[in-house]
Amino acid sequence: MQECPDSTTPPCHPIDLLGQRLDRTIVLVGMMGSGKTSVGRRLAKTLGWPFQDADWAIENAAGTSITNIFAEIGEDEFRQRERQVIARVIDEQQKQVLALGGGSFVADETRHLIKERAISIWLDTDIDILVKRTSRRNDRPLLSKGDPRTILTALLNERRASYAEADITIDGGSGSLGDVVDRAVQALRSYTDRSASS
Ligand code: S3P
Repeated sequence: MQECPDSTTPPCHPIDLLGQRLDRTIVLVGMMGSGKTSVGRRLAKTLGWPFQDADWAIENAAGTSITNIFAEIGEDEFRQRERQVIARVIDEQQKQVLALGGGSFVADETRHLIKERAISIWLDTDIDILVKRTSRRNDRPLLSKGDPRTILTALLNERRASYAEADITIDGGSGSLGDVVDRAVQALRSYTDRSASS
């Protein structure tokens, strides 16, 4: 895409410029139910970039579901596979939006890899919304072990400090999906402005 001489000249409106200025994968992190896949898909469309979901990539590579992977090899082995798949997906494409599974950014090696190679956005979302959204699906093995609200609250307390290491934090809960994507775009603009001036 050409650099725009004038930001009002179609099709070089400012969003095109943002897509040009960003030079790395954008990774969405946060709890189960924080909206990573929906926001990621819409953000990718807005930027004109491809979208990837790490859970789907893991399931494709294994030829089976996350639920079966947890049941067959357990969470520790799942985390190793998760890191390998995320590294491969980041290697394959320079500009893409990648939604991660909720626990991946908590694993030190995976978080360090992402910090080096991508721009991370934490969708910080409150417990009531997480409980409501996760109740719509029953394919999350960690939530089938007991009361989802209790489990989500404990996980968020454990994970919050890791999520806070993301490059960007936005509110993932209030407003519509479009509002969250707009917040992500605004935050990315500020991030690229800060990076350019530092
Ligand atoms: C997990 C979140 C899930 C999936 C797996 C474990 C977690 O992904 O990776 O069930 O540890 O929080 P979503 O966050 O996309 O639901």
